Amino acid sequence: IGKLPLRGKKVLITAGPTYEAIDPVRFIGNHSSGKMGFAIAETAAALGASVVLVCGPTHLKLSGKTIERIDVTSAEEMFEAVKSEYADADIAIAAAAVADYKPATVADQKIKKKGAALQINLEPTPDILKYMGEQKQNQFLVGFALETENEIANAKGKLTRKNLDLIVLNSLNDTGAGFKTETNKVTFITREGDILPQELKAKEKVAQDLFQFIQEKLYA
Ligand code: C5P
Repeated sequence: IGKLPLRGKKVLITAGPTYEAIDPVRFIGNHSSGKMGFAIAETAAALGASVVLVCGPTHLKLSGKTIERIDVTSAEEMFEAVKSEYADADIAIAAAAVADYKPATVADQKIKKKGAALQINLEPTPDILKYMGEQKQNQFLVGFALETENEIANAKGKLTRKNLDLIVLNSLNDTGAGFKTETNKVTFITREGDILPQELKAKEKVAQDLFQFIQEKLYA
């Protein structure tokens, strides 16, 4: 493995949350900061890859200029961007916290407050990672999972259902892991059934170890 082991490889990454509009001023979102996905993008670029980062709303900035960044807002927009970038990717890593549901209709005007309960009907958003699993040719496909119970079993189920090569499980039960933190504690679970718990470490280091692991799988 040389100094730029991913030179000539295209790495597609999704990062950040998605926002699903309720009306012109409100949305359904989540606490994802995008930090893990951005760390993965920077690491891939440092290893020489050609990187496309599809990211939901975030204030994060990239340090390098070599990353192609596609900003999106909703799950639907993220899906469109992924559809156009996935086919020629060599490695695809889905680190985005995509909303699972969106309002079935978006109100044209700001919804007025009334003195009664308000119902908003939700419908599922596209499962972007499932699409990538279904369309997979030679891509090495990595998903993330954040589970609060039966973590290993749920993550393994996701890996199988979405036809992934590797799933990175983060636990909300570990301090220093998860949303908005600088560190993460993850477990790598492979298609072959290996379960590899990692130490708590900086998200940058998690990203480096992830690519080390992928390279060993792909090019060893
Ligand atoms: O099923 P769940 O949402 O927990 O799976 C998490 C993984 O799936 C993450 O890698 C996430 O980026 C991806 N995902 C996606 N599209 C969705 C939902 C999740 O790509 N609509």
